[in-house]
Amino acid sequence: MSADKSTSWSYTEGLPAEDDVLLRARERSYELGVTPVSQGVGAALTVLTAASKAQTVVEIGSGAGVSGVCLLRGLGRQAVLTTIDVDVEHLRAAREAYLESGSPANRTRTISGRAADVLPRLTDGAYDLVFIDADKPSFPVYVDQAMRLLKRGGMLIVNDALDKDRVANPASRDETTNVLRRVGKTVREHEDFVSALIPTGDGLLLGVKR
Ligand SMILES: C[S@@+](CC[C@H](N)C(=O)[O-])C[C@H]1O[C@@H](n2cnc3c(N)ncnc32)[C@H](O)[C@@H]1O
Repeated sequence: MSADKSTSWSYTEGLPAEDDVLLRARERSYELGVTPVSQGVGAALTVLTAASKAQTVVEIGSGAGVSGVCLLRGLGRQAVLTTIDVDVEHLRAAREAYLESGSPANRTRTISGRAADVLPRLTDGAYDLVFIDADKPSFPVYVDQAMRLLKRGGMLIVNDALDKDRVANPASRDETTNVLRRVGKTVREHEDFVSALIPTGDGLLLGVKR
């Protein structure tokens, strides 16, 4: 990356001005040892959910609620966020962030459990948007499930798709990086999806189901 590109990346990541709700949720994330989405990714999530006019959203990896608040802020008043996390402490912190953001409790459905066990219980073709941000080795399973869950016109968003710049580096051959390369290829080459990979945060892979 040229010095200018890296400066532009830092500039865009620093642009979104986050309010106290998001700053507190970030603080709780760090206290719990959770890595929240970057500011740039948070802003992109809000814009993408608003643009997609999503009514039904699934999030895999609630953390302490930073991404959930960003998703909720892009959603319409009737929309519902279903968010899954294996850790009950993280879910408790996430619920606190949603409440602080002013979102009514009936707009969020928090599900505690391993995503690989929970996702198969969700209905086929019932969701407008699926956001994946947990447990990278299982991304291929989650992407498969997302493809099943999405309606036509629905959007898939995969966080950390560039795996801290390792995906683009042919010398990086570790298993997680290879998993992310495979996930990118699967979405790019899937005949039912149009896709784009954008370098915001650690990379956001976007796919829309035709
Ligand atoms: C990177 S953090 C999510 C951060 C969150 N999206 C945010 O921006 O605030 C990943 C979360 O996934 C959860 N997690 C890890 N493995 C999981 C699994 N197998 N199923 C469901 N959640 C899992 C962790 O407990 C953690 O809260």
